Parts: sequence; C-alpha cells; structure tokens
Amino acid sequence: MRTFRTLPADRPDPDTLPDWCDVDVRSIPAVPEWCIETFTDPGDAVIDPFAGFGTTIAAADRLGRAGYGIERDPRRVAYVRERVDHPRRVVVGDAREGRSAFISDATGDQEEFISSDGSERKPHINADDDEEDHEGGDVDPPAFDLCCTAPPFMLDWMDTDPFEGYESAGSYGAYLADATAAFEAVADLLAPEGIAVVEVSNVRFGPGVSTLAWDLADAIDDAAGLRFRTEIVLGFEDGDIGFEDDASGDDGDRMVDAAGDDRTWGPETGRYGYGYDHCYCLVFDHVS
Ligand SMILES: C[S@@+](CC[C@H](N)C(=O)[O-])C[C@H]1O[C@@H](n2cnc3c(N)ncnc32)[C@H](O)[C@@H]1O
Repeated sequence: MRTFRTLPADRPDPDTLPDWCDVDVRSIPAVPEWCIETFTDPGDAVIDPFAGFGTTIAAADRLGRAGYGIERDPRRVAYVRERVDHPRRVVVGDAREGRSAFISDATGDQEEFISSDGSERKPHINADDDEEDHEGGDVDPPAFDLCCTAPPFMLDWMDTDPFEGYESAGSYGAYLADATAAFEAVADLLAPEGIAVVEVSNVRFGPGVSTLAWDLADAIDDAAGLRFRTEIVLGFEDGDIGFEDDASGDDGDRMVDAAGDDRTWGPETGRYGYGYDHCYCLVFDHVS
C-alpha cells in the first residue's frame, strides 16, 4: 500500500458551525472519505468514537456505509443528529466505555432539552430511519468493519484533560493511558478483520513540536486487540492548510494564519493549528 497520498484541502465552511462553538475541530472531509473508501465496502459499518461534528458519519452516509458515533458533548451530538441519515446511531457517551456507551446513552433524556442551537426541542428524526432508530433507548451496535476517528488532541505541555473536555486537571502521560483505554474499547467493537484508522498530527506551536502522532501510535499499539500496521501520510493539494510558517517570523511562539489571525493552539486562544501541510492516518489491525 502506498504510504503517501494527496487529497483535496477543502475545509468545511466555518459558517456552518453553530454559534455556541468557537473552536473548529472538524476534519477535512476528504480524510474520512479516503479512509472509508480505502478500507471498507458499501454496506459496511463504520464507527467514530470521537464523533465531534459528524464529519466521518456524514461521509459514511454519502458513501453508502452505516455510520455510528460516540461523542461526549451533547450539543455536538444534537448537531450531528440533525445532519445524518440515522440520528440514533450517534450517542452521547465516553469513548472509553465502548459498547456500553450505546446501551446507556444519556440522550434518551437529553434529546428532549438540547438541540444544536441550544434551544429546547426534540431532534429531527428522518422519515426514512430504520425501525431501530425510531425505537429510542438502546442501540445495538453491529460489529464494525472500520473505526475512523480523530481523537481530541493534547500537547505535551498542557495540563488539562482532553477526554474530559479540558475541564479538569490532566497530564500528557494520563492522556496517553486514556487513549490506550479508549482504543481497547474500540477493539471490542470491531469485527474480527476490522481496522482502526486514526487521523492525527504532530503539532507545532511556535518553536516547539509535540510529537502527538508518534506518541499516540505507541499508546494505541499498547491497546489489547490492536496492532500498529502502518502510517499513511496525507498531504493536502494546495500545499498548505492556511497557516504561515512562523519559524523565522517576529511572532515569537504565536502561529499566525494568512489572514493575520492568531492560530496558536493554547487554552488562552481556544484555537489550534497543526503547523503542517499534512496529517497522519495511523492504521491498526484488530488482533485477538
Ligand atoms: C478532534 S475532535 C473530532 C472532530 C471530528 N473528526 C469532526 O470532524 O468533527 C475530537 C472530539 O472528541 C470528543 N471527545 C473528547 N473526549 C471524549 C470522550 N472521552 N469520549 C467521546 N468523545 C470525546 C470531543 O468533544 C471532540 O468533539
């Protein structure tokens, strides 16, 4: 398999983010599309345990696969549910809980009160949903052919926990241990020949680099049931993703985009940037 690919760099339109959201963590849609087309066939089941705004699930819908997701933020789940073919396949939960997140999905209660714009109303359910989707309550997840996901990022200098919404204290070591646990839960959801593909980048912030991609490859390889197969570098067609290389600039440790906006990823800015024109897809095989 070729380990370098170039994909369209079309970013999602920032205007399609809801007002309450000030951080755009969405993947470039071409990345999950490429993963799904490469590693699955039509009709296969795909899970994103860190579903975010549903880029992977929407791509699965478009490509005729069955997309499922877990996401800890109820507002993001409400947003996704309004945009996918099978809303009940997306649940509020903790990826580290794996299968039980589908069983104990709290949205049975929350959907009465939360929608993606923060108003109080029930979610839109498509008329052509499966019976399973109309029933409410637990969703019995299938054995997944592919996990396609981008986990929450942490840099080695940060001290808050990404798996808890950056709201409690954390450390890089604890984050990597949690990543191992989350992907053990993923392995439990995969079919025997299933594959997990993890989109991640090493992250440059000013003069330093956090080797997140390589550290996560190691951490996930430690998960029972998953073995690292390869990394695939995905480059983007226009050669950049909107960030200037400030290594020799006058901006100290700030990252400034082409429009002059500060893209430094830090708690004080609430924004992030990879600082690179590529990402990694880490590929893991499900092993018994
Ligand atoms: C990098 S974003 C994924 C973005 C997604 N690929 C998209 O295009 O919208 C990571 C997501 O993981 C969610 N998350 C963080 N900790 C989690 C946890 N313990 N369980 C499930 N989701 C979690 C975050 O809320 C965030 O939406």
